[in-house]
Amino acid sequence: MGKPKVVLGVSGGIAAYKACELLRRFTESGHDVRVVPTASALHFVGATTWSALSGNPVATEVWDDVHEVPHVRIGQHADLVVVAPATADVLAKAAHGLADDLLTNTLLTARCPVVFAPAMHTEMWEHPATQENVATLRRRGTVVLEPAVGRLTGVDTGKGRLPDPVEIFEACRRVLARGVAKPDLAGRHVVVSAGGTREPLDPVRFLGNRSSGKQGYALARTAAARGARVTLVAANTGLPDPAGVDVVEVGTAVQLREAVLKAAGDADAVVMAAAVADFRPATYASGKIKKKDDQEPEPVVLVRNPDILAEISADRARPGQVVVGFAAETDDVLANGRRKLERKGCDLLVVNEVGERRTFGSEENEAVVLGADGSETPVPYGPKEALADTVWDLVVPRLA
Ligand code: CTP
Repeated sequence: MGKPKVVLGVSGGIAAYKACELLRRFTESGHDVRVVPTASALHFVGATTWSALSGNPVATEVWDDVHEVPHVRIGQHADLVVVAPATADVLAKAAHGLADDLLTNTLLTARCPVVFAPAMHTEMWEHPATQENVATLRRRGTVVLEPAVGRLTGVDTGKGRLPDPVEIFEACRRVLARGVAKPDLAGRHVVVSAGGTREPLDPVRFLGNRSSGKQGYALARTAAARGARVTLVAANTGLPDPAGVDVVEVGTAVQLREAVLKAAGDADAVVMAAAVADFRPATYASGKIKKKDDQEPEPVVLVRNPDILAEISADRARPGQVVVGFAAETDDVLANGRRKLERKGCDLLVVNEVGERRTFGSEENEAVVLGADGSETPVPYGPKEALADTVWDLVVPRLA
């Protein structure tokens, strides 16, 4: 098998320079990359750079090398087309099937997976025209990554930044590995919670847990690569934002509940991978709690936190919404898992046995996914992404 053929479309935004880094990641990992910039992209980074970095010729119009019919061939032969940065203009053209240059012709002829990494000012991204174009593209099976939030061109900050090229590359690698032109979560909105809540005692101390958030992040990444719009509610993870995912940061169980319920309103699936504290301190000391020399410490009084998984399972925001929970057990794993699945009322429960090297902080996981329909799917010890893909494999047929 030859090298995977990637078309890197670059449209005219200041973030075009970041596409050089993306290009290098592809070429250095054995991909054959053909860069197709738009004419306006060349105002930001010139054809010489693209050609030198890719080792391939660069054209923007359909009139170069006409005997090779490039406006058809490039798209037909590609294994993946990624447009980064994608401007509002190129998204609009793609959504409407316009083809007035080499990139838009390539997008019409491509039958492989297509990924857009939009970058623009917040107002342009939020404009109903852009949002409708994005929804159209996603419905058709195109992967449109959510822009990141942060500093934009000039003094503005907001949503619209090109995600980190490393993260775009990772997302593309996943899409390429699946190799399907219409991903199975296309047009769906999924919510994933990740990490561990922290329940503060005073401004410097909290009750927490050892969840790293890696399993939840793997779920968010794999869902994005399968075409979903993803909201990741992240509690205290410190992990880099996955490309194309809306990240909502929270601290406590109460904040996590609020964020998950808000995002679940229009979600097709909710996966509760976060380790939520069952209890929180009954009182919060606004000043640091000091030790007193000749006194024993005050006992910490705890109150119950809401059970978010049970709540969203009992009160589905929309009919047919699929709800998935996680359970970490130390013994009698399957029997405890079955009981928990029933108690929580979710559709699927991912049960893993906690122990040394397993689960907390590690890159690997081993689990059994229990279904409310009695099904039992063992997932052998392996990368957290493999478990994440199995979860989505089980969610997809259950979606309304
Ligand atoms: N969960 C939740 N809200 C809580 C506690 C847990 O939504 N207050 C969710 C977790 O995100 C996870 C699942 O419920 O998906 C399992 O949590 P776990 O703490 O194992 O369940 P518990 O009901 O607390 O059972 P036990 O502590 O008795 O094992």
